[in-house]
Amino acid sequence: MKPPLVVVTSPLPGDALEMAEGRARIKVYRSPSRDEATLTRRLRRADGAITLLSDPVGGSVIKGSPRLRVISNYAVGTDNIDLESARKRGVVVTNTPDVLSEATADIAWTLILGTARRAIEGDRMVRRGRFKGWNPNLLLGMDIAGKTLGIVGMGRIGRATARRAPVFGMKVVYSQRKRLPASSEAALSARFLPLDELVKRADVVSLHCPLTPQTKHLFNRNRLKLMKDGAILVNTGRGALIDEGALVEALRFGKPAAAGLDVYEREPLLADGLTALSNVMLLPHLGSAGRETREEMARMAVSDCLAVIEGRAPEHPVG
Ligand code: GLV
Ligand code: GLV
Repeated sequence: MKPPLVVVTSPLPGDALEMAEGRARIKVYRSPSRDEATLTRRLRRADGAITLLSDPVGGSVIKGSPRLRVISNYAVGTDNIDLESARKRGVVVTNTPDVLSEATADIAWTLILGTARRAIEGDRMVRRGRFKGWNPNLLLGMDIAGKTLGIVGMGRIGRATARRAPVFGMKVVYSQRKRLPASSEAALSARFLPLDELVKRADVVSLHCPLTPQTKHLFNRNRLKLMKDGAILVNTGRGALIDEGALVEALRFGKPAAAGLDVYEREPLLADGLTALSNVMLLPHLGSAGRETREEMARMAVSDCLAVIEGRAPEHPVG
């Protein structure tokens, strides 16, 4: 009998695939499969798939892959997968939680500090030869000490972001569907607020909730209008948590005063006008992009994929 086939939709960092030697045949594709038709072709004979967050694993892909038993997503988010179709077909879905929480929190803070203190504008000024010497009024930004950080989604990444706040002198408020137990709130020195209250009170709002039909465009035109004068919006979750077109409009009027984005609604496409704004800091989805983090994510994804194929329970099942 031929060993099972595992399709990997992109080369992964590190040597995790060596784990599969003698256990599965591995086919690694070199370029991402951005549409369902391409992905369906790639997975047609696969027993297992290791997918990226940019792979659209829709119902048609799952239907067109009769042998498929596991989709091991190389990400914590699984909004790229039709989980309901997978469940109906008995295809196990796994992800890579926890390991990337610290790295992603670091990127959230990179964006908080970078937007608050206008680091990108400053870098651009220096490179363009426009830095003419120290000036008391040059690029004045937000002092973050004493200000309030509003965390939307206090999961593992939200909590890792909150834990860094006291070092910078920021108070933490948070919002999510279910309030945390009092002991967790105390440990994080975080105060619960309903979302709209949080939006009205926070000087920096940082998004850490998963993208679901309920959270799509959570930050639409109306909610953006509730933001405090001078406030900053940071997104390291998923682009579609924000109506990106509405955000561009809102930033033109300085409300929010600035935005730091690591994720985009139609990645890698950007909303019209976004790159023309000076009050945005834009990163290319680097949340988990620490070397050790990405190598560990690969080990988790490969290990869980092999587990399911070999009839064992995966360590990180979704749902
Ligand atoms: C990154 O965005 C992830 O979901 O892992
Ligand atoms: C996802 O956002 C998590 O909290 O791990």
